Amino acid sequence: MSKKIKIEAEFEELAWEELDIKEQQLMMRARKVSEKAYAPYSEFHVGAAVRLESGEILQSSNQENVSFPVGVCAERLVLGYAGANFPDQAVTDIAIVARRKGDEVWAGVSPCGLCRQTINETEMRFNQPISILIQNPDGSILRFPGIQTLLPFKFDDLNG
Ligand code: THU
Repeated sequence: MSKKIKIEAEFEELAWEELDIKEQQLMMRARKVSEKAYAPYSEFHVGAAVRLESGEILQSSNQENVSFPVGVCAERLVLGYAGANFPDQAVTDIAIVARRKGDEVWAGVSPCGLCRQTINETEMRFNQPISILIQNPDGSILRFPGIQTLLPFKFDDLNG
């Protein structure tokens, strides 16, 4: 008999006013930097902002390439920059937003598989979960307590 195993994901849906002030600031930085996206091919403008343990906020937009796979998502760019320049600072939260060119409203977005694995690596590097905030089109915000809920059964151990 096979054994059935269930995976549950717990996350929150919050109104803007339910975020704490630091989370609102992080979201604002992600929103602002999405305006700097270089996304002439998809016209999908993404912004990601991370907060370091020190409180400092870093941000990036997505940067595309005519050779499509060369383009880099906003999340991986900002996490790479954080890791390269602040190797001793844990990342505590990441905020992610997206908007289609010319639109007023936010688009639905969710980090791709590569970015989820990158968030996982940053969690492992500093041995602490990263709170993930995602802008919903209806104005609400999703808050995930760490990558586990977005990437269950992840690859995280070469010797496991
Ligand atoms: N993209 C991101 O930057 N982050 C996401 O979470 C989803 C997708 C980018 C990649 C590409 O430049 C464009 O959005 C369309 O996929």
